Amino acid sequence: MLAATTIADEILELKKQRRAILLAHHYQEPEIQELADVIGDSLELARKARDFDGDVIAFCGVWFMAETAKVLNPNRIVVVPDREASCSLVEGCPVEPIQAFRRLNPDHVIVSYINTSIEVKAESDILCTSRNAVKVVNSIPAEKPLLFLPDRNLGNYVKRQTGRANMEIWQGACIVHATFPARRLTEAKLAHPEAKVVAHPECPEPVLAMADFVGSTSALIEWCGLSDAAEFIVMTESGVNYSLQRQSPEKRFYYVANEACNCSECPYMKLNTLEKLRDCLQTLEPRVELPKEIMRRALVPLERMLALK
Ligand code: 13P
Ligand code: SF4
Repeated sequence: MLAATTIADEILELKKQRRAILLAHHYQEPEIQELADVIGDSLELARKARDFDGDVIAFCGVWFMAETAKVLNPNRIVVVPDREASCSLVEGCPVEPIQAFRRLNPDHVIVSYINTSIEVKAESDILCTSRNAVKVVNSIPAEKPLLFLPDRNLGNYVKRQTGRANMEIWQGACIVHATFPARRLTEAKLAHPEAKVVAHPECPEPVLAMADFVGSTSALIEWCGLSDAAEFIVMTESGVNYSLQRQSPEKRFYYVANEACNCSECPYMKLNTLEKLRDCLQTLEPRVELPKEIMRRALVPLERMLALK
């Protein structure tokens, strides 16, 4: 008797037919990460999207990440399993106030976190991710005033790390990380006194103050792999557990529930499912389509960031 074809088999077959690459962010469901060609943080995925050779990018992450891939691959098809996979940072930072800020403050350098819409990127001087934000800000001459947007916790973290006084910060927040209460981290530390704490810089300052290491999703994973500790409290989206456990099956990882959903999952990231991934490879929809002019303008700050080693 022939074995039944699974959705995973269908995806692998469609991937071949479409000459597609499957990029997955660390916050995707484990069954999606299982099939991915590349799993990474937003910087790594942007770099992979640039180096890619093929016809279709199936971007298992959120929409702004797929837009970034499209800007780097204007002639390729970029699809996302769910069109509604957005981000609270993107939604809290419309382009009009940024354009108004630019008119009123022509001397400011606008540094935009990659978690922004393509329209906001097009208004920006340089982009950054959580992995390179300190390096990007340090690359701007000290006397230049700057606006950092849209994540206030990342912005404040970068300000503390760089000691930069002439830095204004947009007041956006990630619904997942900004609602991790320090009180619950304290409880987790009491329950696991030997555990090291690692945190994403989108977490509030009192959480970051208790962390042994602060970094992007991939940086947290790397740090836990290199550490001698056996237990970790992980202050980010629990999808990272896939790579953490694969890398160090003998280590233990604990997650803290936030106040937004009483969980540690990103509701936008989790909209993508295996079924929707199969369907988007079949129909090549939802597809990222962007006006040429906006892509041309957004490419400038994106290339500036990618050029920083
Ligand atoms: P990374 O750059 O660490 O992948 O973070 C992206 C993100 O959306 C964090 O919530
Ligand atoms: Fe956006 Fe937060 Fe989700 Fe990351 S975890 S995609 S910042 S809402």
